[in-house]
Amino acid sequence: MKSPPKRSTGHQPSARRTLNLRQLTLRQLEIFEVVARLGSFTRASEVLHLTQPSVSMQVKSLAQAIGQPLFEQTGRQVHLTAPGRALYETCRELDALWSRFEAQVDDIGGLRSGHLRVSVVTTAKYFLPRALGLFCRQYPGIEVELEVQNRDGILARLRDKLDDFHVMSMPPPGWAIDAEPFLDNPLVLIAPPDFKPPRGPISLSDLAEQRFLLRETGSGTRMAFDEYVTRQRLPLTRRMTLGSNEAIKQAVAGGLGLAVLSRHALTRADLAEVKLLKVRDFPLHGVWHIVHWHGKPLSAAAAAFRDFLREFAKAESSALEAPVLSRGKNR
Ligand code: PGA
Repeated sequence: MKSPPKRSTGHQPSARRTLNLRQLTLRQLEIFEVVARLGSFTRASEVLHLTQPSVSMQVKSLAQAIGQPLFEQTGRQVHLTAPGRALYETCRELDALWSRFEAQVDDIGGLRSGHLRVSVVTTAKYFLPRALGLFCRQYPGIEVELEVQNRDGILARLRDKLDDFHVMSMPPPGWAIDAEPFLDNPLVLIAPPDFKPPRGPISLSDLAEQRFLLRETGSGTRMAFDEYVTRQRLPLTRRMTLGSNEAIKQAVAGGLGLAVLSRHALTRADLAEVKLLKVRDFPLHGVWHIVHWHGKPLSAAAAAFRDFLREFAKAESSALEAPVLSRGKNR
């Protein structure tokens, strides 16, 4: 016969569970979070610079302490179980709490010390480090981490709340974010230096026979150009994908085709090697935004850098003004 279930005392958590949860360590949670986020023990061990067996062992001890399996395996894929998903959410909340605590500690130290984590799309990598350099000279005690990725990469970092704020042109619609526009990011059409466009005012359809060099899928530059081409129903059939602004500039300079790039990606030296084309609707209008989660308080360092960026952008935008970029004149 089954013995009757023990009555819960209500307020007291069960002794066994309390004891086991005390065996958890922050390090185990950190390792678990990376495995869950990357969906792979192998990739997690690379990122964490640990061997795979030690990652597995830490996750196993964590599962034992919780008393539930955290992952299940189908073939080579690992998936979170229901308790695993709940723990992953908890880890992310803990992370957000910890960042808030760090920001509070930083704020107590004012701008004499503190951390600043910013991630930016690749179009901004020609601009932002210069601003950051000047900022760091003004506030030498602030420790800075800057991450550069394409739009998809920045969205992943935003989702995972890895940075104080982000810089990107096309903030994702429908996310609970604040996005403050702060500097134009015009997308220009470039060609090899000896390229002879048809005479007179032209539009992109007059160049449809040309080969177009495109950024990779996941790039915002690529997305903006694809959207324009779709809107205009342009039959651009000769396409080639190259994974970076630098590779595209070199390929255009070498005569491989035409491309659309951020005007910021073209230095004075680049402009001697490629030709900016005057084409109707170009430059395509884009604007960089400072993006962070709505309601997320910025640390003193992050708020100071955001203010600094606004001022730096004003000077930069007048430097970018060039006759070829005036959209009115191309029409
Ligand atoms: P990306 O930048 O092409 O590097 O993704 C896009 C952007 O300016 O937002």
